[in-house]
Amino acid sequence: MIHIIDASNRRHYADQIEEHFRIRHRIYVEERRWMELERPDGREVDQFDTDDAVYLLALKQGKVIGGSRLVPTLCPHLMSEVFPFLANIRGLQRGPDIVEWTRIFVVPEYRGRESAVLHTVLAGMLEYCLEQNFSAITVVMETWWMPRFLELGWEVKPLGLPTMIDGMSCIGTMISVTEEAWRNTLAFKRIAAPTLVDRRHGPHIIKERRTNHV
Ligand code: COA
Repeated sequence: MIHIIDASNRRHYADQIEEHFRIRHRIYVEERRWMELERPDGREVDQFDTDDAVYLLALKQGKVIGGSRLVPTLCPHLMSEVFPFLANIRGLQRGPDIVEWTRIFVVPEYRGRESAVLHTVLAGMLEYCLEQNFSAITVVMETWWMPRFLELGWEVKPLGLPTMIDGMSCIGTMISVTEEAWRNTLAFKRIAAPTLVDRRHGPHIIKERRTNHV
């Protein structure tokens, strides 16, 4: 299940948020070698980890096994502050119903074809965005994600041209939030809906919602 953590319930998830910052450091700095994110305290925290950030964490027995982050596009965000040139054709997309998605990860032991963790995080993100009436998600992504999203039937619009950044081919895109995209993502790995935990409660007092198979 995916836990939605924002400023209102973050105190219930202090251990998991801390664990996720350390996992981000292990993954992005030690594994991916994105060395500009290196921090002496071993916590990968950037200028967009503010009270406006919403974290989606996949927890198994209270431990973080995957996650991601959403930041309102009306706030400073990665595409507006660091990579605006990735939106140089359609322009930056900002609005109360548009969020930026960053920092998707799955811990190494839960990755791969046999695992549904990545797709559960993706479905959880779409489910949350549908609940919030968001219409779109913008993302600075490596271009290898494009076929992976298209195989899920997502509508992904480039905002600019693919550009090499630190040896990686990157592109700015906008993904439409639709019920169809959510259902396709669930069906791809036969994931049961809903994927979100009732977010008024902390991880130790979870009331999971009724489960339906899609
Ligand atoms: N470069 C190119 N392709 C990649 C890739 C990378 N860095 N990482 C994953 N892929 C693609 C490949 O096609 C891969 O298949 P392959 O192993 O046969 O080449 C496929 O995705 C599956 O990836 P895998 O890691 O086995 O499992 P997954 O789909 O469960 O998880 C991630 C994918 C990206 C969530 C996971 O690899 C991860 O957490 N990586 C580190 C964090 C990260 O790079 N996040 C994206 C940027 S924020």
